[in-house]
Amino acid sequence: MIRIDVLTLFPEMFQSPLSHSILKRAQDSGIVSIVLTNIRDFATDAYKKVDDKPYGGGPGMVMMPGPVFDCFEHVEKLSPEKGRVILLTPQGQKFDQAKAADLSKEKRLILISGRYEGFDERIRIGLDAEQISIGDYVLSGGELAAMVIIDAVVRLLAGALGDQDSPKDDTFSEGLLEYPQYTRPEVFRGMKVPDVLLSGDHAKIDRWRRQQALERTKKQRPDLLKNPEPRKTACL
Ligand code: ADE
Repeated sequence: MIRIDVLTLFPEMFQSPLSHSILKRAQDSGIVSIVLTNIRDFATDAYKKVDDKPYGGGPGMVMMPGPVFDCFEHVEKLSPEKGRVILLTPQGQKFDQAKAADLSKEKRLILISGRYEGFDERIRIGLDAEQISIGDYVLSGGELAAMVIIDAVVRLLAGALGDQDSPKDDTFSEGLLEYPQYTRPEVFRGMKVPDVLLSGDHAKIDRWRRQQALERTKKQRPDLLKNPEPRKTACL
């Protein structure tokens, strides 16, 4: 069982992704517990203010440290497990499958989603938080990034997917893109399923898939082949 706490100004944004498919099943079966806490509940003034203008000037607003610290200290006490504290920010280290596998080994994650121009730097320093970005683009807030991380982590937990072998062949799990997949019908609009997949010869199928995965990776993502060590990130 992993516990994932999320500190956010928009807990409602999480409702739909968390109540469908794998994430829903994983929660229902006790593989993961996801707890959302609204940072705004920890604002101290009558306007429930959580952001303010940046010192030194500049556009936009910055998340104030007070409400985030108070929210964090409240959330921290909800479970004895200390947990890994993660700030979602485009300044963070880039999230990938290896990071998902790493996080899936933890007992507790505490994800903090920001809004506006970013966090007051004392939040990162004071909470000794790791920073993660889901890619080199700027989102309107950390919520979607937190959901991406939750989804990628939870599907790696034992029992989260129907078929235990599924994550093993995933794109990236061996450092390669996934091989092409086909299902019925055998011929669709003149396009035929490759004969090898109908041959029943599993050694031959494995060789074909490996070859296809390599070719695809070479063409689409040659950068992945620069890493000589295949990364083992399959299901725990
Ligand atoms: N918040 C805004 N943009 C983000 C990104 N790319 N990754 C994580 N959090 C973010």
